[in-house]
Amino acid sequence: MHEHDFIAIVGPSGCGKSTFMKLCSGLRPPTKGHVLVDGREVQGPLKIVGMAFQNATLLPWRTTIDNVLLPLEIVQPYRATFKRDKEKYVLKAKELLQSVGLEGYEHRFP
Ligand SMILES: Nc1ncnc2c1ncn2[C@@H]1O[C@H](COP(=O)(O)OP(=O)(O)OP(=O)(O)O)[C@@H](O)[C@H]1O
Ligand SMILES: [Mg+2]
Repeated sequence: MHEHDFIAIVGPSGCGKSTFMKLCSGLRPPTKGHVLVDGREVQGPLKIVGMAFQNATLLPWRTTIDNVLLPLEIVQPYRATFKRDKEKYVLKAKELLQSVGLEGYEHRFP
């Protein structure tokens, strides 16, 4: 495997694809052995990894835009300045929603 390679993991249901992703992203610890990402042992959730879940994981009590903003409310360093920079994040979130055809649905619930 080399830098910039694109890899797909394919296999039948239950073979461990999601488990593998959770181990690489640090969302689950291995019961045996260790996982290296970029040469370092994974010991907790990694900020350089993004994971798109198989099923919708939107919070039904938050509007579309508040769902998009959720990670920024929770994950550092954004969390520390979320209130101060919220306007900037809202603009970016609106741009992202527009790019996937969801303009006008910002204040609707999932
Ligand atoms: N290498 C492994 N050894 C033992 N159990 C495993 C292993 N990999 C996965 N499992 C267990 O098998 C179950 C299903 O694994 P997982 O959800 O990762 O499968 P999947 O490939 O993502 O399936 P799907 O295609 O349905 O999403 C989980 O309970 C997981 O803990
Ligand atoms: Mg899966």
